Amino acid sequence: MRIVFHGHACFEIKTQDGNILIDPFLNGNPQADVKPEDFTDLAAILITHGHGDHLGDALKISLNTGAMIISTSELAAYCQGQGAKTHAMHIGGKYRFPFGTVKLTPAWHGSGIKTEKGMIYGGLACGFLLQLEGRWLYHAGDTGLFSDMELIGRRHPLEVALLPIGDNYVMGPDDAVYAAQLVRAKYIIPMHYNTFPVIEQDVGEFLTMLQRKAPESRGIALAPGEYLEI
Ligand code: NI
Ligand code: MN
Repeated sequence: MRIVFHGHACFEIKTQDGNILIDPFLNGNPQADVKPEDFTDLAAILITHGHGDHLGDALKISLNTGAMIISTSELAAYCQGQGAKTHAMHIGGKYRFPFGTVKLTPAWHGSGIKTEKGMIYGGLACGFLLQLEGRWLYHAGDTGLFSDMELIGRRHPLEVALLPIGDNYVMGPDDAVYAAQLVRAKYIIPMHYNTFPVIEQDVGEFLTMLQRKAPESRGIALAPGEYLEI
């Protein structure tokens, strides 16, 4: 499978069983390398929470392609109300889709949906555990460090973990290294940094720290448009 980074927290995962897109924040994202119109063949769009830098262009892409949106029940209900095809889930639950299995994990974060009429309640933020082509991947979503990440890695031996490192809204690099020690994935891909000045980070420093403190994991920083093939 191919894990393509599109900037911020957006990843497209292309597998032999279908392509999925996570947190497509493209319009208004200075780092995005693609446009919402570029997607034509998607099995599903997964959204970790209702903030604009994650919900992003999900509705537009869903309506364009017919791809269903998978998220928490609150956010799925909102998207359904906007005309999208949805599949509602919640934390701890998993479901087997034709492209693979999706399981929702906790994430310490908010999920309000900002609209012209004010903030809409979006339920809880989540992360995603994905079993694709038989292998487990973890997209942590927006979150602070929490010790149950150890349980996530113990319960589902991880090939890849996508961890935020931007600080301010989510884990910073030092906490993300600690998170890497807990989840014990073969590959760690940092995300949610350098999109805006407030989350600027030295990713080289993060990778060095990761190599020293979690040597069993391999850190890979992807530039937008780059991918990891596993
Ligand atoms: Ni957020
Ligand atoms: Mn965010």
